[in-house]
Amino acid sequence: MQIDKELLVEKALEARKMSYSPYSHFQVGAAILTESGKIYTGANIENASYGATICAERTAAVKAIFEGERCFAAIAIAGSPEGTAEEDFVYSYPCGICRQFLREFALPDMAVYIKGPEDKIKETTLSELLPDSFGPEHLG
Ligand code: THU
Repeated sequence: MQIDKELLVEKALEARKMSYSPYSHFQVGAAILTESGKIYTGANIENASYGATICAERTAAVKAIFEGERCFAAIAIAGSPEGTAEEDFVYSYPCGICRQFLREFALPDMAVYIKGPEDKIKETTLSELLPDSFGPEHLG
């Protein structure tokens, strides 16, 4: 599948505007491209009970799964402290829980794009970020 990574990062940046992060002030947006060619977006949603926070990646994933999607081709992530200018973005990688959550629905070579400073984008794959992973097939 041809993946427009710039478009996906753009969608993640747009989604980041919906971040609810009054505690950490760290705003994250994510955009998932599914095998069907649709894009689902999400942002981090925090809670006064901090541990109840949901990351941007899982917000996007749950939206996609609820709409019937089961195969993710790629995800773009844009995360930085509130007020960060685009040219100063940090590379914000998915947390361990999100890596495992995405693994359940990831196509074998699922691409991961991380927005960096200016128009820089780091490219990797979920299997690089989560090697030797556990998945549904292991349950028999
Ligand atoms: N966060 C994400 O949305 N995705 C990640 O993979 C890392 C962390 C959020 C959770 C919390 O709202 C804030 O970033 C600081 O941890």
